Amino acid sequence: MKILPSEITPRRFHLQRRTLLAAALPVALPVALPGAALAQALPASRSGLPGALLMEPPTRKQDATSYNNFYEFGTEKDEPVRQAQRLRTRPWTVSVEGEVLKPRVFGIEDLLKLAPMEERIYRLRCVEGWSMVIPWIGYSLSALLRQVEPTGKAKFVEFVTLADREQMPGLRSGVLDWPYVEALRLDEALHPLTLLSFGMYGELLPKQNGAPLRLVVPWKYGFKSGKSLVRIRLTDKMPTPSWVAANPREYGFFSNVNPQVDHPRWSQASERRIGEDAGNFGGLFAKRRPTLMFNGYAEQVASMYAGMDLRRFF
Ligand code: MTE
Repeated sequence: MKILPSEITPRRFHLQRRTLLAAALPVALPVALPGAALAQALPASRSGLPGALLMEPPTRKQDATSYNNFYEFGTEKDEPVRQAQRLRTRPWTVSVEGEVLKPRVFGIEDLLKLAPMEERIYRLRCVEGWSMVIPWIGYSLSALLRQVEPTGKAKFVEFVTLADREQMPGLRSGVLDWPYVEALRLDEALHPLTLLSFGMYGELLPKQNGAPLRLVVPWKYGFKSGKSLVRIRLTDKMPTPSWVAANPREYGFFSNVNPQVDHPRWSQASERRIGEDAGNFGGLFAKRRPTLMFNGYAEQVASMYAGMDLRRFF
């Protein structure tokens, strides 16, 4: 792997950051979070798929697992890591249904064995203007969809995630209609880069990152990747994702990363890589990098949108 010298955070920044953090905290950080599940190894081989292994240094695991969006556990970035530890991820089932010849309810243990696990290093770009580089583990969603045999009428795939008031304190808030729903066009769902992920950084997914399984669609904004999936439904009509229902002016069905189409509140032209603002006065002078068309995966995915007006279908 080739790492540009400019991309390595100088050691003094790490040290400085630690000092800053220590100064800001009233008490010493515990070694492990109370109640945090012990990480379990998830063996995987490196993906051979074109575009699946980004040659950029991964975001520090500590950052990727403590700065999260998972509104079922609170809307602040530091809430999911604390609140999600109460999520029960066993037993767990995922129903795959709708326009399919063989609808089926899969147990999580069967899903873990359904196809060989691959490690894929993807860029995750959040619509809020930050990004991370994460070594995910999983297999193409197409491996699961093939098992249920989509009918000729299937045009879209809807992803429904867990909504359990007892385990998820965020459900008391009305920020979104629960359950959290996302959706893709069938060709997007069948694209080999679309990942059904069970792990990251060599281990099973931490709960705050969407255990026991989530979606990762690397050329779309992060919110397309639904966490803690319970139902996958193939349909003939375009489903309404939760974010589109909440604010159709700000969020569209496709949500492809596009530096030329700004979100009404956030520019999409550039992004801040999480972890790189270390030591830079809380990110005030943090380096921003240009956001790439389709998040850098244009070569693999642009043909799916040939002829489409991407300003209209955002
Ligand atoms: N899935 C569910 N169920 N609930 C959520 O609030 N947030 C989304 C997405 N998946 C979300 C979700 C958003 S806005 C982003 S940016 C990514 O998860 C964040 O994933 P990460 O915390 O693993 O980086």
